[in-house]
Amino acid sequence: MTNPAYLQPIDDGLPMRSGGDYALAKLKVVEEYLKISMTAVKNTNWRSSFYIDLQAGPGKNILDGKIELGSPLIALNFPRPFTHYRFNEGNPTLAHALMTRISASPLHDRTRVLQLDVNQAVDNVCQEISVIDKPFIKGSAPSFNIAFLDPEGLELSWETVKKLASMKVMDLIINFSTSGIERSHLTAEASDRFFGNSSWRSLKPEGSDPSHKRRAWIDHYLSQLAELGYKQHLQEQVEVVVKNSKNRQLYTIIFASKHELGLKLWKEAVKTMENSRQLRLL
Ligand SMILES: C[S@@+](CC[C@H](N)C(=O)[O-])C[C@H]1O[C@@H](n2cnc3c(N)ncnc32)[C@H](O)[C@@H]1O
Repeated sequence: MTNPAYLQPIDDGLPMRSGGDYALAKLKVVEEYLKISMTAVKNTNWRSSFYIDLQAGPGKNILDGKIELGSPLIALNFPRPFTHYRFNEGNPTLAHALMTRISASPLHDRTRVLQLDVNQAVDNVCQEISVIDKPFIKGSAPSFNIAFLDPEGLELSWETVKKLASMKVMDLIINFSTSGIERSHLTAEASDRFFGNSSWRSLKPEGSDPSHKRRAWIDHYLSQLAELGYKQHLQEQVEVVVKNSKNRQLYTIIFASKHELGLKLWKEAVKTMENSRQLRLL
């Protein structure tokens, strides 16, 4: 018997991650983008659609004492579902909690939960999508795919982003955790893996303020995404920047799509959040 409480933002006795309510902003913008984009593309003849969450967590969080659904359960709650949900969580206890929760979803037969390092899990997912995309099928669009990458620090390697980017369609929502990166002390080796090379070392931020340093990192990352074929908002950076009560930047959600429509829809998603207390949109 599955427990309907598994899918609700209530205590179900399984492990949750805890944190501050600043994490809400990323969950809300992911929710908005999934809602808007799945509606916008509903009439395209996609072969399949993948929601990919490679650091998925246990499915529920306690944020400042309040239980909130995590990104995997948010994605599974849409009335317009994806054909495939691919989750990965490196912590076995959290991965097991996620699997148990998902067992209550009517969409559970579309899901798979891997328990691997994020940089290994990507191979399984890309392999699956490549098989679907490979044959030429007249009148059929390739798989429509959205990946949410939500690292804690520097563990997401650039190679992983590159592998995802090599799929025909792959919108990327990336939590650029500036505070996590700072916590990781930018060890040269870890940072090289994160940025894909050592060119970040020669970044020269315009000012000495930490915000200049963060801006330089993010711009560098965005320019690398552009080299992989991702389009940019030319006139403006449409990012979700989340700060704590002391005005310290915690993370920035960046978005990348190879298609103009993706950029337009992301902008709409961000706009719906403009009044949120915690957000400052650049
Ligand atoms: C920021 S949390 C994800 C939160 C989730 N997106 C949500 O909405 O609740 C990052 C997750 O990545 C997991 N993790 C950390 N390092 C990892 C790695 N190298 N490979 C896979 N998972 C990892 C952590 O256990 C944690 O649950």
